[in-house]
Amino acid sequence: MKILVTGGTGYIGSHTVVELQQQGFTTVIVDNLSNSQAGVIDSIEAITGIRPVFEQFDLVDRERTADFFSRHADLKGIIHFAAYKAVGESVEKPLMYYRNNLVSLMNILEGMMLNNIPNLVFSSSCTVYGQPDELPVSELAPIKKAESPYGNTKQISEEVISDTIRSSKLNAIALRYFNPIGAHDSALIGELPLGVPNNLVPFITQTAIGLRQQLSVFGDDYNTPDGTAIRDYIHVVDLAQAHVVAIKRMIGQQMKKPFEVFNLGTGNGYSVLEVIRSFERVSGEKLNYRIVGRRAGDVEQVWANPAFSNNELGWKALKSLDEMTASAWKWEKAYRSRQ
Ligand code: NAD
Ligand code: WQD
Repeated sequence: MKILVTGGTGYIGSHTVVELQQQGFTTVIVDNLSNSQAGVIDSIEAITGIRPVFEQFDLVDRERTADFFSRHADLKGIIHFAAYKAVGESVEKPLMYYRNNLVSLMNILEGMMLNNIPNLVFSSSCTVYGQPDELPVSELAPIKKAESPYGNTKQISEEVISDTIRSSKLNAIALRYFNPIGAHDSALIGELPLGVPNNLVPFITQTAIGLRQQLSVFGDDYNTPDGTAIRDYIHVVDLAQAHVVAIKRMIGQQMKKPFEVFNLGTGNGYSVLEVIRSFERVSGEKLNYRIVGRRAGDVEQVWANPAFSNNELGWKALKSLDEMTASAWKWEKAYRSRQ
C-alpha cells in the first residue's frame, strides 16, 4: 500500500510518515524543503528502520508534478500537508500563499484524476471556524470569513476539493486540526520553525533554552477564567495517527460520502497561562514571560467537539497537556544538543 505524503519532511508530515511506516504502509515523500530539512529523512529511518522514498520538488510546478504522478500511478492515496502556514506572513505576501497553497492542490487533484488515484486526505484547520458562536465547535458550525489569506487558502481548498469530487470519482477527507504541539517520543523529529517562532509552544521552549529572551503573552483581558486566550492543543502523534485511520477508512471504502470533514482536537481548552504552567511543571524550568497587548487577528477561545471524529473514525486523542509540553521540551533539548 503506497501512500504519497506531500510535505512529509515537515512537522506534522514527518510524524505521519513514521506512523504510516509503523503500520506497514510504503511511503513516498514529496517536499521542496522550503520549510524543512532533508535530514528528517535520516531521522524517520532511525525511528522506523525504513528509509522513505524522497523526491525534492515544488508541487506548484505543474509539469514536474504531472511527471511524478505518471511514475507513481500505483499510489493508493495521498496525504497533502505541503503548504505555507505562517498567518502573519500571509497577510504580507498574499499571492505567495494563494499560489503555493492553491496551485499545488490543483496540480495534485489533476494528477489524481489523470492516473486514477482515488483517495486524498487534506490538511485543513480550525481557523475555518474563526471565533465560533458555540463552543465546543463541531464540524457543522458555519465557516466564518477568514481572518488571513492563509486561513482563506484553507477555506478555498476545501471548496476546490468539494467541487472536484462532485465532478469525478475521487474521495477526500479534510481534517481540521486544532493546535498541534509536542514531538515524537524519540526526540528525533519535532517542530522546527525557521527564524522566530510564531506559535506558542516553540516560543516557550526556545525561551527556556535561551534562544529567546522572553515570551510575550498576548493579552490577559479576554473573557476567559484567567483572561488569556484558550485553544485546543493536540499532541502531534495523536494527530498523525488520525491520518492513518483516515487513509485506512478510504482504502477500506468505509466512507459515508465522497467528501468527509473531521475535527482533530482533544475537546479540552487550555489557556496560555495553563500551557506555561504545564511547561514549568514538566520541565522544572521557570519561564521568563510578560503580559503584553492582544495579537491582531487572534480569536478569544476555541476548542473542538471531537465526538464525530471519535465515533466515526474510532480515533481519540489520548495524550495529556503535560505529555505534550514534556515532549516538546525533550525535543528542543535533544535538537539543540545535536547542533
Ligand atoms: P510544515 O511547514 O512543517 O510542513 C509543510 C511542508 O511542506 C514543509 O516541509 C515544506 O517544505 C513543504 N512545502 C510547502 N510548500 C511546498 C510546495 N509547493 N512543494 C513541496 N513542498 C512544499 O507545516 P506543518 O505544521 O507540518 O503543517 C502541515 C499542514 O498542516 C499545512 O498544510 C498546514 O497549513 C496545516 N496545518 C498546520 C497547523 C499547525 O499548527 N502546524 C494547524 C492546522 C493546519
Ligand atoms: C496560541 C495562543 C496566542 C505566541 C495558529 C494559526 C492557526 C493554526 C494553528 C494552521 C494564542 C498565544 C502565541 C506567543 C502568545 N495553524 N501566544 N505568545 O494562533 O491559535 O493558531 O496556529 O492552520 O491557523 O492561526 O496558535 O500557537 O500562534 O497561539 O501569547 O508568542 O498563544 O495569542 O492565544 P493560534 P499559536
